[in-house]
Amino acid sequence: MTSPRRTFAIISHPDAGKTTLTEKLLYFGGAIHLAGEVKARGQNRRARSDWMKIEQQRGISVTSSVMTFEKDGVTFNLLDTPGHEDFSEDTYRTLTAVDSAVMVIDAARGIEAQTRKLFEVCRLRSVPIITFINKVDREGRPPFELLDEIADILALDVAPMSWPVGMGGLFEGILDLTTGKVSRPEGDSRAFHGKVDDAPTLPAEIAEEIELAQAGYAEFDGEAYRNGDLTPVYFGSALKDFGVAELIDALSRHAPPPRPQPAEPAPVSPENKEVTGFVFKVQANMDPQHRDRIAFMRLCSGTFKRGMKLTPTGHGKPIAVHSPILFFAQNREVADEAFPGDIIGIPNHGTLRVGDTLSERADVRFTGLPNFAPEILRRVALKDPTKTKQLRKALDDMAEEGVTQVFYPEIGSNWIIGVVGQLQLDVLLSRLDAEYKVAAGLEPAPFDTARWITAEDPADLKAFMDLNRSAMAKDRDDNPVFLAKSAWEVGYVADRYPKVRFLATRER
Ligand code: G4P
Repeated sequence: MTSPRRTFAIISHPDAGKTTLTEKLLYFGGAIHLAGEVKARGQNRRARSDWMKIEQQRGISVTSSVMTFEKDGVTFNLLDTPGHEDFSEDTYRTLTAVDSAVMVIDAARGIEAQTRKLFEVCRLRSVPIITFINKVDREGRPPFELLDEIADILALDVAPMSWPVGMGGLFEGILDLTTGKVSRPEGDSRAFHGKVDDAPTLPAEIAEEIELAQAGYAEFDGEAYRNGDLTPVYFGSALKDFGVAELIDALSRHAPPPRPQPAEPAPVSPENKEVTGFVFKVQANMDPQHRDRIAFMRLCSGTFKRGMKLTPTGHGKPIAVHSPILFFAQNREVADEAFPGDIIGIPNHGTLRVGDTLSERADVRFTGLPNFAPEILRRVALKDPTKTKQLRKALDDMAEEGVTQVFYPEIGSNWIIGVVGQLQLDVLLSRLDAEYKVAAGLEPAPFDTARWITAEDPADLKAFMDLNRSAMAKDRDDNPVFLAKSAWEVGYVADRYPKVRFLATRER
């Protein structure tokens, strides 16, 4: 019997407390001994420290890692998403590999820009969300205001599961609305050390708030939550250990186990015996001396065993996966198996791409890994014209990894790269220089945005492309792309060519 899996990610705006909460989840889940000190074992430890080195060298965190812990017979896989303001498609794609998400909100700030963007990605895939309103040990906005904001901005039903008994200087604990018990702060740190008040007397205004809240908001409904229509809301303080155990418990009880994944010819159920999975992330340069990459695969069905042969659908020969990186929970270090919902790191030399399906039978293809329309376009100016070939290779490689997108215009020789955040441009230039020895600069492009285009009738598509050749390009998979000077132009052109569809995301 394998233990149930909960594969999830934390979405938040920088500074809301994701790192602190991650550490506390691992700590309460028993995966680390001291909060703040991530101790992994064996191969996992090596892999982690390698990434950390790279992160230090680059001075930024460009990796997503996988953290696994076990609690009360449930195995949790927490996929980390890079946490800075500028983010890449990596972040988005990681969300395609999870079954649920925890949304962390700063009690003083409410919903912020990046939370909202990431939330939209979750909504696209109906990923259920548990909300954690953090930092109630500090002065925050009134709970009602926060709950209403979530409901209004995200158009979700909210079901408060706990309630702060005061905030900031008046903070006296967290009331569990299902049990009526209050977790109390203790000692100088005013942290939670296990003191629970079974029959608390609440201040009158808090009792009144709770009455209002229970009358005014939805009751928790597991099905509505799993459909992505309702979010249970927990108040807490990651720093002071309030609400963390409750959050693990909520994931364990309510978050969905691995679900059937959208695929062709038919969705793949986790009960399916054959091993299948998809690559949602490729991390290059674990070792700067080698062009090695690690492809992160989410296992969707079957029991993966070390040494197993898997075939990438559509291209390539079977690959024997001899030295996978398995992200073990603390008690599983001897295991050589992985189960649906687990993540496996597969070392390779560039054969595996983001979006690839790997399987034992090679006739299935997972769908739904999106490419996003870039928000920033730049023309790549090569300083040494003899390096054209290297540049093309580098741009293709990085497009494959999802660092940037690349567009080859129909007319002209200046390739255009597209990103969703500024940080990706810095990564691109530093890697061009360091790994590919290509000196290049970036210039403003005459375009501002891009859309993939399709049409039911190929003749309509061709007619459009012929008339707009100066704005046409191909992506690295040869799909036609319309480059526009502004979002307004996209709308204008779309009105004029109703038979052509302009897509801001493209599924691979
Ligand atoms: P992030 O990963 O989402 O960017 O946030 P991170 O956990 O790094 O937390 C951002 C800041 O908020 C940190 O403070 C952290 O200590 C603080 N913080 C996180 N959770 C809580 C909480 O529940 N209560 C309070 N009061 N603070 C919290 P910092 O000063 O930026 O960093 P540090 O000097 O404490 O490391």
